[in-house]
Amino acid sequence: MNRPQLGPASKVLILTGAGVSAESGVPTFRGIGGLWEGRRVEEVASPEGFDADAKTVWRFYSLRREGAAKVAPNPGHLAIAKLEEKLGDRLLLATQNVDGLHARAGSKRMICIHGELFKTRCEQCNVPFDDDKTYFDAVPICPECKTGRLRPHIVWFGEMLNPAHLTQIDDFIESAGNELVFFAIGTSGQVYPAAGFVDAARRVGGTCWLVDVDPSPDYAARFDHVVRGKSGEVLPHLFGV
Ligand code: OAD
Repeated sequence: MNRPQLGPASKVLILTGAGVSAESGVPTFRGIGGLWEGRRVEEVASPEGFDADAKTVWRFYSLRREGAAKVAPNPGHLAIAKLEEKLGDRLLLATQNVDGLHARAGSKRMICIHGELFKTRCEQCNVPFDDDKTYFDAVPICPECKTGRLRPHIVWFGEMLNPAHLTQIDDFIESAGNELVFFAIGTSGQVYPAAGFVDAARRVGGTCWLVDVDPSPDYAARFDHVVRGKSGEVLPHLFGV
């Protein structure tokens, strides 16, 4: 297998998507056809969905919390955490996954750009807190202000990503310049702005790798190297960890 050359000045940006958690048993977003109980996921994972039927949205996320609590990190998550041990602050992980498996594998220099399943926040107070509870019966109310509804700390369809997260990623790319090695792993490249990181990496002269069991042709065309395979099998070899 062709392997990336990581020298002492290399900086590594990793973007992960649902494919990295597939071998842990977490279904990929598009693998389930984008449907949950016959509804389009966009109808459930959106501010409009929450306004229309907050109880159903909480049932969806409660089931996801239960599912994510039962699974464990796989060798793909572990390989990324081991590469971070080697590179320290020369590595940054941006994940689109909300399942918490990267953190459980040991990743620390990580940004959860689409939010975190095991966090909740009040619609009014807006301060996220750790929460592994499930809410099947009623929409929870904020224990602090006693009026605001609690909602999952997830970036829903139609919502903006945290601008501070995007700045951190942009700064990392700019500071790396042509020493940047960018990996997109297990993501179909359909959701922006994450799908545009490869273009930013190319603009600064970085080298771009895509690892995916079934790469989307349009997305793959924007990479220098495409490795077809399961992340849990490919990454330990690719990273030499
Ligand atoms: P997708 O479901 O769109 O894509 C998952 C990708 O992983 C596909 O390209 C699969 O071929 C690949 N894949 C599946 N199993 C794999 C494995 N074992 N090893 C490597 N690759 C594998 O998921 P994402 O790209 O993550 O956003 O979706 C991006 C965003 O779309 C999600 O974060 C979610 C959704 O809208 C929000 O919820 C905001």
